[in-house]
Order: sequence, then structure tokens, then C-alpha cells
Amino acid sequence: MVAIVLAPACSVDRSGAPGPGAGTPGGRDTVLSTDSERAGEAVYRAENCARCHTLFDRPRPYGPPNLPPGPALKDAGSRVGPDLGLEGHRHSDEWHFAHFYAPAAVVRGSRMPPSRHLFRASGGLPVPTRGAAELVAYLQALGRGRRDVWAEWRRRDPDVPPAPVADRGLLDRGRELYRRHCASCHGDRGDGRGEAADFFGIRPRDLAAGHHRFKSTPPGRPPADTDLFRTITLGSGTGAAMPAFYWLPQRDRWALVLAVKELAPALRGTGLGVGRDGAIPPASGGAGEAERGDHAAGRRLWDVLGCASCHGADGKGMSRRDAGAAWADAAGAAVPRSSDLTHACALRAGASPEALERSILLGVGAAMPSYADSLPDEASLRSLIAYIRSLDKGSRR
Ligand code: HEC
Ligand code: HEC
Ligand code: HEC
Repeated sequence: MVAIVLAPACSVDRSGAPGPGAGTPGGRDTVLSTDSERAGEAVYRAENCARCHTLFDRPRPYGPPNLPPGPALKDAGSRVGPDLGLEGHRHSDEWHFAHFYAPAAVVRGSRMPPSRHLFRASGGLPVPTRGAAELVAYLQALGRGRRDVWAEWRRRDPDVPPAPVADRGLLDRGRELYRRHCASCHGDRGDGRGEAADFFGIRPRDLAAGHHRFKSTPPGRPPADTDLFRTITLGSGTGAAMPAFYWLPQRDRWALVLAVKELAPALRGTGLGVGRDGAIPPASGGAGEAERGDHAAGRRLWDVLGCASCHGADGKGMSRRDAGAAWADAAGAAVPRSSDLTHACALRAGASPEALERSILLGVGAAMPSYADSLPDEASLRSLIAYIRSLDKGSRR
């Protein structure tokens, strides 16, 4: 196989437009460093994925991270696939497996052909073959050689613009978008039982029950509208299957917030903006302040507070069985693993200092306790956040 190096490392691309062959494996934007990633490239060729997909997109050499544009709504039902140059870390591994097995069950209306031959039947769910695992390893490496745009993006809280008026038109729009982009996983009625749901270890949330975990309100309280907006924008990275919908116009994301609230009896009819009252403002002082936290002090807190008993000594997360825990989410369903804190993309609620603060102070669902009463002051909170950020080895900045 011939490796073609096309794009010089210092090429300046102010437009963010893809350059020719930029994502070409062998070029600097994609570095295949493991055997699986290299074997996956061969599977990509053997499967002839290139008859529908290009690999042109690449990270800008500097400046804010450029994320790929979303699918244009007019392209619904097209057989031409999107460019995959920046696919690495866009989705979780599980999302890819489910998508290979049944593309239209995951992305409604998708005309990508299923690749059932990459799976073995096993009585229950189909099991990915080694070739499927290698193909996913390859996809996860695409575009991350010099810059991991997804990790960089997840290290900042997304902007949340003021909500528009929650009128009938906005709700209708939200319901239409929900059917198109969300129901395949969360179910038409929001009960978390969409046709793709069974593929995922961390299951799509039961939105009708309104049990949310990624939020800025005290335990047991419903999420703020801004929390829902943030979740829809960010998705859950590589840590779970929830895709990021940053590419939808802001008004559409607000329409989805409204539609999601209407699915839950407890939140129905409250419009937009009211829930925000319950949000607790950040105490750590946001991004700049958290950077100044004292790592060493944070490491001591990590030990004293016993974070490693659930997240592992290295912070990579543990399975429920290994931790000997009976973690349940707010709805009583088992949480299969504690979170991997070592990569910005693996943190499901986002990797900004504010997101870490929310998780630490308010807890995450019923499985991760709140530490608000165990941290003596804001400086200790900042130190703990700084320590967790230092575990993030994902950057190749
Ligand atoms: C007949 C054309 C076709 C072929 C062949 C095809 N795809 Fe696709 N692919 C699509 C279309 C259309 C979409 C957009 C709809 C969707 O996401 O399912 C897509 C979407 C994707 C996505 C999601 C991109 C994103 O981030 O939204 C990935 C990943 C992908 N394809 C990988 C592959 C791989 C790997 C192969 C080879 C095994 C392959 N595709 C073969 C048409 C195709
Ligand atoms: C491919 C499957 C999939 C699709 C499509 C999907 N989600 Fe999710 N969603 C999930 C999973 C899995 C979780 C649980 C994530 C976790 O716990 O890390 C989730 C969680 C959520 C949460 C809960 C976050 C919290 O605070 O607990 C909300 C809200 C949500 N999704 C809304 C949406 C909306 C709105 C859409 C459509 C725009 C959508 N999802 C599309 C799989 C999906
Ligand atoms: C009793 C076990 C337990 C302990 C102790 C614990 N955690 Fe967690 N933590 C979890 C579980 C389980 C989750 C995932 C919860 C879920 O998804 O519902 C989690 C989630 C998190 C998250 C959110 C990650 C994401 O994916 O966005 C952060 C941050 C976090 N923990 C940090 C800490 C820190 C810091 C400590 C120590 C102060 C700590 N945890 C102690 C079990 C624990």
C-alpha cells in the first residue's frame, strides 16, 4: 500500500475548506499508529467505502477547531455519503457498530447499505467481527494526527444563546426534528426504546421520565433548559452513542429542547427559559480560573475522596463488576461503567472546567455522588478540576 503525503504541515488554510487529499491515510492529518488502525484501513478499501465517501476534510492548522458541516436537510435520502476526513472521535465505537449493522435504524432515512457480513450472530445482539473492530479503529483515527478538533471543542462549554419564544410553530418544528434525528434511539414517545436502543451499553435516556444526569441543578431537580441545549449541542462524545447536533441552527436546537420537555409530564407546558432559575452558577470561576488550580493539591483530594475506587487509579473508568458497585441511574437502570476521565472526548457531559464542576458538585444521576460538602473551598474545587484536566492525555496539540 502506498502512503501518499500530500498536504505540507504548514499549509495555511484560512477558509477551513478541505484541501485535496488532506485526510489521505499516510498524510499527517491521519496517523495510523496501531495494528488495528492499519488493518482497518485495508478493510475500508476491501469494503470499497470510498465509492460513497471521500476523506478530504482536515483540521485547520491553527485557530478555533473546525467541525464538519452537518448533513444538509435537502440531502435526506441521498446515497452519497458525507466526507469522513474528520470522523475520528466524532461518534462512539458503539454508534459505528450499530450504524454498520443497521444504518437506517440509527440515522433515519439513511441509504447507506448495511454491512451485516461484518457481524456474527450470537443469539442475542450481533457481535462485531475483528474486521468490524479494525474498521472502527481506523475511523476513530481519521483526522486526528495533528489536532484533535473534537477534543478541543469539548474542552469548552458551548455557547447557549437566549431562548426564542416557545410558540406553537417552534414546538411543531421541534417535534419534526425529534422524529427525524432522535426517535430512532429515544423512541417516538421518548421512552428510550427506539429501534436502535438495544445496541447501546449506555442506553438512550428515557426522556418521558425526565431523569436527566448532565445538568446544573441540584440532585433530584429537573434540568435547566440550558442543560438540555448543551446536551443536544455536544452529544456524549466517544463515551456513549448520543451524537452531537452542533450543526443544527440554534433555533432548531431550542425547538428540540421544547419538544424534549413536552415528552415529560413533569416538564410539559413550562415553555422555555423558566427551568433556568434552578441552575447553579459555576463556583470555580470558569475556564481561566480552573487552569490555575494546583495539580498536586488536586491529586491529594482525588486520593482522600476516594475517586479512584470507582474511576480506577488511572482515571480510565471501571466496569460495575470490577468496582463491586451496584450503580444505578436515576431510573434504577444499571450504569455499566464509571466514566473515563482521561480523554476530553470520553467525558460524556463535556470536558470544560464548568462541566467537570457540575459533575463533581452536583453528582451524576444516582451512581456518582455529589461532593459539594466534601470540598472545603473553591480553591480545592479548582485544584481537583485542574488534576482531572491533567489526566486528559487526548490532546495532540
Ligand atoms: C452506497 C453508498 C455508501 C457506502 C457504500 C457506504 N456508505 Fe457510509 N454513508 C452513506 C450515506 C448516504 C451516509 C449518510 C447517512 C448516514 O449517516 O447513515 C453515510 C454515513 C456514514 C458515516 C457517518 C458519518 C457521520 O459522521 O455522520 C460513516 C462513519 C460511514 N458512512 C462509514 C462508512 C464505511 C466505513 C463504509 C464502508 C464499509 C461505508 N460508509 C459505505 C453512504 C454509503
Ligand atoms: C444514536 C442514538 C441517539 C440519538 C440519535 C440521540 N440520542 Fe440522545 N442519548 C443517547 C444516549 C445513549 C444517551 C445517554 C448518554 C449518556 O448517558 O452518556 C442520550 C442522552 C440524551 C439526553 C439526556 C442527557 C442527560 O442530561 O441525562 C438528552 C436530553 C438527549 N439524549 C436528547 C436527544 C435529542 C434531542 C436527540 C435528537 C436531536 C437525541 N438525543 C438523539 C442516544 C441518542
Ligand atoms: C461511588 C463511585 C464513584 C465515586 C466515589 C466517584 N465517582 Fe465519578 N462517576 C461515577 C459513575 C458511575 C459515573 C457515571 C454516572 C452516570 O453516567 O450515571 C461518574 C461520573 C463522573 C464524572 C462525569 C464524567 C462524564 O462522563 O462526563 C466526573 C467528572 C466524575 N465522575 C468525577 C469524579 C471525581 C472527581 C470523584 C472524586 C471526588 C468521583 N468522580 C468519585 C462513580 C463514582
